[in-house]
Amino acid sequence: MNDIKNVSVIGGGTMGNGIAHVFAMSGFEVTLVEAKQQFLDKALDAIEKNLDRMLSKQKISNDDKKATLQRIHSTLNTVEGVMKADLVVEAIPEQFDLKKKVFQEVDENAPKHTILASNTSSISITKLAAQTKRPDRFIGMHFFNPVPVMKLVEVINGLETSEETTQTVMGLAEKLGKVPVSADDSPGFVSNRVLMPMINEAIFCVYEGVAEPEDIDQVMKLGMAHPMGPLRLADFIGLDVCLDILNVLYDGFKDPKYRPCPLLVKMVDAGKLGDKTGEGFFKYD
Ligand code: CAA
Repeated sequence: MNDIKNVSVIGGGTMGNGIAHVFAMSGFEVTLVEAKQQFLDKALDAIEKNLDRMLSKQKISNDDKKATLQRIHSTLNTVEGVMKADLVVEAIPEQFDLKKKVFQEVDENAPKHTILASNTSSISITKLAAQTKRPDRFIGMHFFNPVPVMKLVEVINGLETSEETTQTVMGLAEKLGKVPVSADDSPGFVSNRVLMPMINEAIFCVYEGVAEPEDIDQVMKLGMAHPMGPLRLADFIGLDVCLDILNVLYDGFKDPKYRPCPLLVKMVDAGKLGDKTGEGFFKYD
């Protein structure tokens, strides 16, 4: 198993800052790479806020918080950001061309031994790996929001991912206090292949007037013990992200059961994307 000490996280959005947070809290040296200073500042603010939340719940001490923050370095320069990395985790928006460009740059500049991982929620790991010269050291490392809280890391093997890479990343997830589950590359992997049809079906219930959003969520919370109803969860994930993932499932399987609900398409077109825009199926301050 490779010895991983330095981890670079590309992208400081909700997932990226959460990933940087858990690696740094587990003793890894982290370099967070962002495209603009304002995004970097926002990411570091979010990490500090989430550490404060853990501090107030006495899950960590003030010293833990300080040490975690000291282990997080940041840069706007991808080349500089991956030069010393043993592992690079990419967590940028779900657009293949954007990820391709980043992975090509990372592949050219990271040391030979470095493992490249994508936090993609549905883009093919095999296809991303093929953009690099190290498909054997390329893997999916899929975290869940909120990253400091959710126990799962879905580890996705591309066609050429080596057994050593898989074992290293599974071991690493355990070092973060997470539970890794391994799956082979397939549209939506396991998590979103199961989750998104449920969310889509809940949206169809709204679209067809079967019940109000609050009531649909109440059914799943009280009847099935889900911590959030599917519509609240869709808002939390982002309706644009849900639509992108459903389209990957629909295109990948060519099966009408994954057809995105027209109401979801309309809400995304209207810019009602959930928590991040202040409105989705519910309203947020
Ligand atoms: N950082 C650190 N801690 C956090 C946190 C964060 N960002 N967000 C919440 N927490 C902690 C809280 O401090 C709290 O800690 P205690 O248990 O010690 O009190 C705990 O998490 C629960 O939080 P809250 O009390 O604020 O609220 P809650 O009980 O309603 O739980 C929730 C919030 C954890 C988000 C819960 O509603 C939940 O589990 N929801 C489902 C989340 C989910 O399904 N995520 C996966 C989405 S899919 C995805 O991410 C991937 C994809 O590919 C689409």
